Parts: sequence; structure tokens; C-alpha cells
Amino acid sequence: MSNSTSSRTIPDELIEEIKSRNDIVSVVGQYVRLDKRSSANLFGLCPFHHEDTPSFSVSPSKQIFYCFGCHKGGNVITFIREIEKCTWPQALKILADRVGIQLPEPDDQAYRERLERTASLQKIYLEAARYFYHSLHSPAGDVARRYLKARAISDSTAKKFGLGYALDEWDGLLLHLRRQGLDDHQLISQSGLFKRGKSDGFYDLFRNRLMFPIFDAMGKIIAFGGRVLDDSQPKYLNSPETPLYTKGRHLYGLNLAKSSQDKRLVLVEGYMDTLAMHQAGIDNAVAALGTAMTEAQANLIRKYTDQVIVGFDADAAGQNAALRSLDILTSRGLKVTVLRVPDGKDPDEFIRKHGPERFKVLIDQALPLLDFKLDVARRSCDVHGNLDILAFQDQACTILAKEDNAIVRELYAGKVSEWLHASADSVVREIERRREGSESSPAADLLHQQLAARKKPDAAAPPDTAQPASQQATREEIYLLCFLAEHPTLWGRLEQQPVPVDFSEGVMQAVASRLIEHLAAGKPVDSGGLMLWSEALVVHGRFLTDLLAKASMKLDETFAGQDPLKTMNELVRTVRLENLRRQLKETAALAQDPDRPAEAALARRKLLEINQMIQKLRSR
Ligand code: GTP
Ligand code: MN
Repeated sequence: MSNSTSSRTIPDELIEEIKSRNDIVSVVGQYVRLDKRSSANLFGLCPFHHEDTPSFSVSPSKQIFYCFGCHKGGNVITFIREIEKCTWPQALKILADRVGIQLPEPDDQAYRERLERTASLQKIYLEAARYFYHSLHSPAGDVARRYLKARAISDSTAKKFGLGYALDEWDGLLLHLRRQGLDDHQLISQSGLFKRGKSDGFYDLFRNRLMFPIFDAMGKIIAFGGRVLDDSQPKYLNSPETPLYTKGRHLYGLNLAKSSQDKRLVLVEGYMDTLAMHQAGIDNAVAALGTAMTEAQANLIRKYTDQVIVGFDADAAGQNAALRSLDILTSRGLKVTVLRVPDGKDPDEFIRKHGPERFKVLIDQALPLLDFKLDVARRSCDVHGNLDILAFQDQACTILAKEDNAIVRELYAGKVSEWLHASADSVVREIERRREGSESSPAADLLHQQLAARKKPDAAAPPDTAQPASQQATREEIYLLCFLAEHPTLWGRLEQQPVPVDFSEGVMQAVASRLIEHLAAGKPVDSGGLMLWSEALVVHGRFLTDLLAKASMKLDETFAGQDPLKTMNELVRTVRLENLRRQLKETAALAQDPDRPAEAALARRKLLEINQMIQKLRSR
């Protein structure tokens, strides 16, 4: 994905101005019909998920949007990012253009050169794609057209994917670009489309191949793949990494699949599989192109959906690389199901042999990841038709021990026990025994990773699973966060400024500390930003964004007629007091623990301190 405008080069004040001149109601109104329903907020049908009754709300006073159905929310920039499926800087650019604000050209020379080079390379790729396309439809392209026909690729599919043909010549493309005046030596060298000959000249990398332009998610050509028309080797040739193309960061077909009606993505291996599936009406197919799944690709997917169906050839399915790919996807919070194409075929071959309808059935029958893993384990423990019970029990329990949801563990333990002819209880016990050793990776680590991943405004969304249900938050904490985000200018006038440890441990502390850090540094904050930091975090088993959005949108009603500064001072005191009381309770228990005299003594001293602090707070 091109990232040509770096947000870091744009001053905060300008971002604020772009936000303030793009009223969220009018921006959202271009995509969603909004009705006024409650006193303050507008409602409409959510553009991000399917629904029949409006749960998508916009607050004109807070300049935020929030969907109570799918929990997406944020400010006007994130709205554009989500709806246009672009990066944060690109969204900023769209909004700047909308109100006629010119984003500053950074005066950094190297940066400008990079921009220019990107634009020039893109021009070369576009021209190359045109040339290949033209060649495919020229008389000399007959051989490639016949190949496509033999592989049952229709003209319209070929066109949709911009397929072309590289003639069987040494310098066809080179000469073509030269005719267009696009033969700058350095650019030709950087484009990756040419090889250097003996006498410092270049010759075409792709010769006599069927050409697949590789697009980024925004539809810009960033590389090419070329397939031989016979059995010679290498079957596929890809253009190398360039300033525009890094392996493992893109997905073939995503530029098309992203606008599929189907919310899920189907991930397959090859170019031809992608083509065949789109041709069969499965327009949410993308391919990883020969590489194992990378984290960058998983993040990319997570921008568009939270559900992936992974299609494997039957023989690839059990391989470690394949299983690792699945784990990478789940670690990004994606719900993964696995589709196994029978008879050692790939999707393209299967569709050609059995037709699209039967392939769609395979998609609908895709196995949940745990079922799939257990199935792979079971097959691997098969000894001439008999199940090696000990080996399978070992593998199955290892697989299930990694599942964080206790109910799911138990459910699957039931299944496994049937295969093992053992009691479900004993399987559960074995799973729990294995979990004990591994529980030192606390959810707090995960939380930290999630927050770190969100340092960048355009970082992909984090997983929304696997958080402890025990995360606490009080109503006052929620209100306080809303007020702080809403009135950043009052920060310096608070009687006492809150500190992160005033808040409940875990999620609330993590979010509060980011907010406080921003306020203390005088960086801009707003309600939308607060919601972004809380994205996917869960307290009391509910999304923190839900709680914040509700509180935030009703803030004016709830505290009508009250002086915000005074209210905030009271909230700080209440939140701090509440937290001290909590500490008091915990410390009191520890102070009486006869088994740990040393800790108990410390705890008694701490009790005194806490009590003093409470007294001081009360006396204000
Ligand atoms: P067809 O044989 O045309 O149906 O292609 P396929 O996609 O079924 O090929 P295969 O399953 O062998 O490979 C899957 C993907 O791996 C391909 O789409 C390519 O992206 C990649 N790949 C396969 N062979 C090569 C190769 O020789 N070189 C490179 N660079 N990539 C390859
Ligand atoms: Mn194939």
C-alpha cells in the first residue's frame, strides 16, 4: 500500500484544522442517511456491517461516530479511513482536499525524491501493463490467448485482472518504454523489469510469459508476475523487490476483493486460483503468492475483515508452514476457518472439474480452526487405519491447551474424548494440567502489545479477543476519561491531576496513561482519539469503546448545567478515593496473612500510608 504522505510531517495544528473544517455530520452524511432521533445525536444504518435497524450514531458536539452494533467508532479521519479503506495519511489527504486545504510538501529533499521516484516507477508499471495487454491482443499474442482459453479464463476475467503477454523478444518492453520517453537509466534499473546485459545495456526480464500485474490494495500496480506457457521452469517469475514492492506485504486480488459484498476473505495460494474463483463469482478471493503468511499480510487482512477462510490443497494442509500461517492469522484476532480442497487439487483445478457451486459448498463447510487442527493431528496419528491413541491424545491436548476460552476447551475435550474412548473429565484435566505451565504469559502482555501496536494512528486494528473478563472500570473512571478528552484545556487548571494508578488496574490504567501522557505534553486529544486507543479493549466483558461512546455522547445531558472544571475535580477525587479503598482492602488482607510475615509487615506500613491519603482526600 502506498504511503506517500507521511503523517509525521504534518503538524498537529493542521490536522486539527482539517478536522474542524470537516464537520463529521456532513462528511458521514455523504455515505449514510442520518436521522435525528435523540436530543443530541444522529442515527443511521451502519455502513460497516449489515443491519436493518440503525445502530450507527454520530455526535455533532463530540465530532465522533460510533456503531453500537459492530463497535467501530472514531473521529472524522478514522471514518474516512474505514469507509475508503485507505491509510490514515490518505484519509487526511482526502479530507484536506475536501475543504481545499493544501497539505504541506515536506522540504525534506530525500523525501521529495522518494515521492518522485514512486510516481515515475508507477508510470513505468502502468505503461508496461498497457504494453503487455496490447501484446496479448496483438497477432503475436495468439499463443497466450490460446493458453488462457485452454485454462478456461474468459476474456472478461483476463481484462478484470489486467492480464497481458510478454512477447518472445529481448527488448520489446524496453523499446516501448523508450518510445514513451520513459527510459531513464536509473528508473529502468530500479523497476525490476529488466536485467543488465554484458555491455551495460538492459534486456527484458519477462519474455514469452503470460503477465499478471500485481496491484496493491488501492489498485496501483506495484509488480508483475509472469507464467510460462508450457512446462518449462521456472513456472512463475516475479519481479524483484523494489521501492514499491516488498514481498509478503501484499495480497494478490485484494484490490478487487475488498469491495466484495461478502465480508469474509478467502485466502488461496496462486494467481490462477484467484482468477478462477473470481470468475466463478467468488469475488472475495485473494492470494498470498507462494510465500507463507506474514504478519504484515495478516495486518492487511485485518483492515478489511475479521474473518478469513484459508484454502489449502489437501497435501499442503498438514505442513508446518501452513499451520504457522494459521497461527499468524489468529494472533491478529482473525477468525479463521479452513477449507480443504479434496483430491490433491487446487481451487482452480477443482472449480474446473466440479464447477463453482461445489466449490462454494466447500467454502461453507470450512472447518473452524480447532476442528481443523484436531483433524490434521488425527490424520498424522493414523497408523494403517488405526488411531495411535497415545500420540493423538498428546497432540490434541497440546492443541486445546492453547485455547483461551474455557467453555470452548471443554466442548472440544468432549469431542476428543469420544475419539479416544476416554472420559471427557480426564481429557479436560489433562488439558488444564498443560495450561498451568504456560499461564505465565498473562493477558497484560497482550494488552501491552495491543497498545504498542496502536501507537501509530494507521496501525491495523488489534485482535478483539483473548482478554481477561475480569478487567474492571468504574462509572466515574469512564466519565473522567470522557471529560479529560473533551476538555484538554482544563488539564492545567485541575486541583489535582490524575495519574494512571488512580485508575483500575489493567485496561483502564493503560488507556488512562496514554491520555494523561498526551494531556501532560500538551498534545491534542479528543473523544474520537480516546475511542481509538480503547479499540478492542474489554472491561466487565464489554467493549470499552461502547462504554466511552455512550458516556461521551450523553455527557452534556448527564452533567447538564454543571461547571466542567468542578465536575472534573470531583471525579478525580472520587476515582482516586475509590482506588485507594480498593488498595486498602487488598492490603488489609495481606497484612493479616500469617504465612507471609515479611509481606504482612510491609503491608501494615502501607495500610497507614493509604489511610493517610484517604484522610487527606476526604478533608478537601
Ligand atoms: P498454475 O500451475 O498455473 O495453476 O499455478 P498455481 O498457482 O497452481 O501454481 P502452484 O500451486 O505451483 O504455486 C502457487 C503459487 O506459488 C503461484 O501462483 C506462484 O505465485 C508461486 N509459484 C509457484 N511456482 C513458482 C516459481 O517457480 N517461482 C516463483 N517465484 N513463484 C512460484
Ligand atoms: Mn494451479
